[in-house]
Amino acid sequence: MVDQVNSVGVVGLGTMGAGIVEVFARSGITVIGADSTPELAERGRGFLEKSTRRALDRGKLAEADRDALLGRASFTHQLSDLADVDLVVEAVPEKLELKRQVFTRLDGIVGPGAVLATNTSSLSVTEIAAATSRPERVVGMHFFNPAPVLKLVEVIRTVVADDAAVEAVRDLAVRLGKKPVVVGDQAGFIANALLFGYLNRAIAMLQERFATREDIDAAMTVGAGLPMGPFTLADLVGLDVALEISEVMFAHHRDPLHAPHPLLQQLVTAGRAGRKSGQGFYTYDRPGSGTVVADQLTPAEPDAQLPDSLVVLGQGAGADELARLLPAQDLRPLDLDAVGDGEAVDADLVLVADTGAPLGAVAARVGRPESVVGVRLHGPTKRGRLAELVRGVLTSEESLAAARSLLRTADLVPVVSGDRAGRIVDGLVHPYLNDAAKMVEAHYAGPDDIDTAMTAGCGYPVGPIAQLDQVGLEHALSVERAIYAETRQPGLAPAPLLQQLVTVGRGFRTDG
Ligand code: 3HC
Repeated sequence: MVDQVNSVGVVGLGTMGAGIVEVFARSGITVIGADSTPELAERGRGFLEKSTRRALDRGKLAEADRDALLGRASFTHQLSDLADVDLVVEAVPEKLELKRQVFTRLDGIVGPGAVLATNTSSLSVTEIAAATSRPERVVGMHFFNPAPVLKLVEVIRTVVADDAAVEAVRDLAVRLGKKPVVVGDQAGFIANALLFGYLNRAIAMLQERFATREDIDAAMTVGAGLPMGPFTLADLVGLDVALEISEVMFAHHRDPLHAPHPLLQQLVTAGRAGRKSGQGFYTYDRPGSGTVVADQLTPAEPDAQLPDSLVVLGQGAGADELARLLPAQDLRPLDLDAVGDGEAVDADLVLVADTGAPLGAVAARVGRPESVVGVRLHGPTKRGRLAELVRGVLTSEESLAAARSLLRTADLVPVVSGDRAGRIVDGLVHPYLNDAAKMVEAHYAGPDDIDTAMTAGCGYPVGPIAQLDQVGLEHALSVERAIYAETRQPGLAPAPLLQQLVTVGRGFRTDG
């Protein structure tokens, strides 16, 4: 068994494999990148040269260091060139049979002490290991895209894995400057299991026209503080990869919430694989680019038609804050309880400070339901301050356009959703928080590893368990109950652990 890994091979030089080669070469480790043809091997070299050229141009890397880095990496189309390495990381496409074939071949090539690692996103490491004569030396080593930037490495320990092999991979990840988290072999591991349920829910929202792709992405970046919205992220990861992972998650959990949405399947069938193909949920200026260009789904900018008259309905902090932010002369704050059934509120626009309750019930009492728009303000993040607008079933397009324009004048970022529990932000965040609580409850991973996975693997500002403690478990439970009551989806039922912690007045890491 190798004590320390000094030379590595990386098999498969797509987006992830090429990024992993760069991570090793940057850390002073000799690396051989391998792909199936001379052209693909050369393409791998091209990725490394381009990425390090960019770093050089941006003053992040000295010329001499770049030369040394490139000198540590070589490329081949012959797997037999990996005979002397201490460890191989496989990063070929997410097809179990393909991965098993690669492992069988590698098993016959590398020395008996070498460790074979797979960068699989969600496939069973155990099944891959079983294709070799050394299953105890097969470990998952799962990097996150872009591999040179994101710090998480999930180290997957199968039931037959040797402690020494797991430790060798964990130590190597530390030497790479990464944050390793060791977990068992379960579909999606920690991060993808939490991420892909969320992405799938976002796709469902889009498919059901609950909100637009732009508004959902803005809600999650501006409102929830995430580095990317779900559609930008899915395009980065690759829609084909997202589809494969969702399929594996569904096959493992049999939860309809993981079943890939028809929209995702159709986009993949149509060849829209995301950034790499130039089109995914968005359209890009060229394949591989992250620069979005307008397409037929790009919303037209609404005319900046400000309302002639405005009423803000509601009471409490949300209504007070709206009243403070909007131009004072337009305000007639009213107590919601003072509005009688069907009593007309005579205004072009009636903004209702959103409590999360169905807007329809309020609109019915106002008398001019077409002018009623719900508004929920979120706390500011570094990207601005989000205002979620709620469209009731009778709300007119003119009222929504007027509300958008008005809120923009107050430097808010407005997004529009339908009238459903959780709206966009809570509707996506809380099921994810609930899934994290269930993961703790199932003893798959502890709070620290879960929080590390989402902050270091997906760039989230806070991990889900810490976030649950921050928002308060009682509040989280009430939002999750409302979402569950509306959808009756078993997978959205609040985690019993949350209910128990609320009952005893404790948080995950706090006393109350
Ligand atoms: N390769 C190398 N470096 C890159 C890069 C890439 N592909 N993309 C960005 N960077 C570097 C930039 O050079 C820059 O470096 P610097 O700070 O030293 O100048 C830094 O990252 C920040 O880049 P930008 O300023 O261009 O852009 P952002 O600040 O918006 O960050 C991001 C870009 C790092 C991609 C950030 O948006 C992010 O973290 N997004 C979340 C991505 C995510 O969730 N990934 C996980 C997906 S799931 C997965 O991979 C698992 C798999 O199994 C599917």
